[in-house]
Amino acid sequence: MHQPVLFALLGLSIGLVAGFPTQEPEGGKHWVLIVAGSNGWYNYRHQADACHAYQIVHKNGIPDEQIVVMMYDDLAQNEANPTPGVVINRPNGSDVYAGVPKDYTGDVSAPTQLFALKCTSELLNQCLSSRLCGPNDFVFVYFTDHGAPGILAFPNDDLQVKDLQDAITYMHENRKYKKMVFYVEACESGSMMNHLPADIDVYATTAANPHESSYACYYDEKRDTYLGDWYSVNWMEDSDAEDLTKETLLKQFKIVRSLTNTSHVQQYGNKTLAHMKVIAFQGNPSKYTPPSPSTNRPPITNPDLTPSPDVPLAILKRKLMMSNDIRVARGLLMEINVHLKYEYALRHLYALVNLCERGYPADSHKTSMQYIFKKCSQLSRINAQ
Ligand SMILES: *[C@@H]1O[C@H](CO)[C@@H](O)[C@H](O)[C@H]1NC(C)=O
Ligand SMILES: *[C@@H]1O[C@H](CO)[C@@H](O)[C@H](O)[C@H]1NC(C)=O
Ligand SMILES: *[C@@H]1O[C@H](CO)[C@@H](O)[C@H](O)[C@H]1NC(C)=O
Repeated sequence: MHQPVLFALLGLSIGLVAGFPTQEPEGGKHWVLIVAGSNGWYNYRHQADACHAYQIVHKNGIPDEQIVVMMYDDLAQNEANPTPGVVINRPNGSDVYAGVPKDYTGDVSAPTQLFALKCTSELLNQCLSSRLCGPNDFVFVYFTDHGAPGILAFPNDDLQVKDLQDAITYMHENRKYKKMVFYVEACESGSMMNHLPADIDVYATTAANPHESSYACYYDEKRDTYLGDWYSVNWMEDSDAEDLTKETLLKQFKIVRSLTNTSHVQQYGNKTLAHMKVIAFQGNPSKYTPPSPSTNRPPITNPDLTPSPDVPLAILKRKLMMSNDIRVARGLLMEINVHLKYEYALRHLYALVNLCERGYPADSHKTSMQYIFKKCSQLSRINAQ
């Protein structure tokens, strides 16, 4: 799964570039890691977000060799897909699937994904040791996923906040980046970043604070699923429309924060970094052409904003209302029942994690927590089938 492809491309040498006067004194390369942590048709929106993010950085001049996309890749050919091979991230939107690299598909587990973080940094390390370039690279990481306090979910396990922090620390200590920016879409995503130190050249924004849901958007009647997530489409549609050589990360944060009216978009880490231009992370300034104003898309009148945990039920209820076949309706009711149990288990999990976070002795909860974890992932696997 970990393609040597990734290691094959030590394109432009900053050592050489640095020998000459240059408009980009920071030099270095741009790396992008895009992760969609879920699978299944109900979760369409996460992979659609991820594909869209790829199209942005691709169009903005970052070569595929410097973009790592991790996603399950079960949408394009899904039997529920009325437009095989096509994935969209906006009502009547254009295809975002074409060209997405397939280096990491299938079961994108948390360890794999952490590996990618370090793997990206291994690449930098190789550059360094081959005397071609130094740790001057800019890294942009975008996660879109289910979450809970201190957790990002994956099809078969979870990424814990501590492991993510350790990976970032490792990268910092081993000088694996010059500047790094995270955008995180998930419920309670603030909890993944609220302990981020301010002195390691990392800046992060999250869809929600540590205590609230993030929201799905753009319900599609033809596909019976949500096409995007509100924070994610807000930053991506902004990146599609603006001249990113002029817009700063801070400006994008403020725009996204004001558009994302269903949760509290947060920023963490070194906020001085936010004065840098968006293009420094989402593109290659020397290969970038700003969009023409005519590419502005018509606004969506009703974005169908729905809390992420309510999405499966909301979809089932809509399908139930549209259905006039009693057998189909019965099947949907059974599915709704399974989902209600799943939601119930998940809420207990949240409560337990909250208790642990507040410093109550974890031991007494440990067994039931493990049980609930297991139950949740079993149920989510059933649901995904
Ligand atoms: C999508 O396109 C169809 C057909 O052109 C149109 O009827 C519909 O209103 C459009 N939907 C949105 C949300 O723009
Ligand atoms: C934050 O980033 C700015 C700009 O790169 C840098 O000058 C400053 O030293 C950083 N702050 C800390 C605490 O490291
Ligand atoms: C948030 O904004 C959208 C689109 O602008 C709007 O349709 C929706 O009613 C707003 N929701 C809230 C809770 O303010």
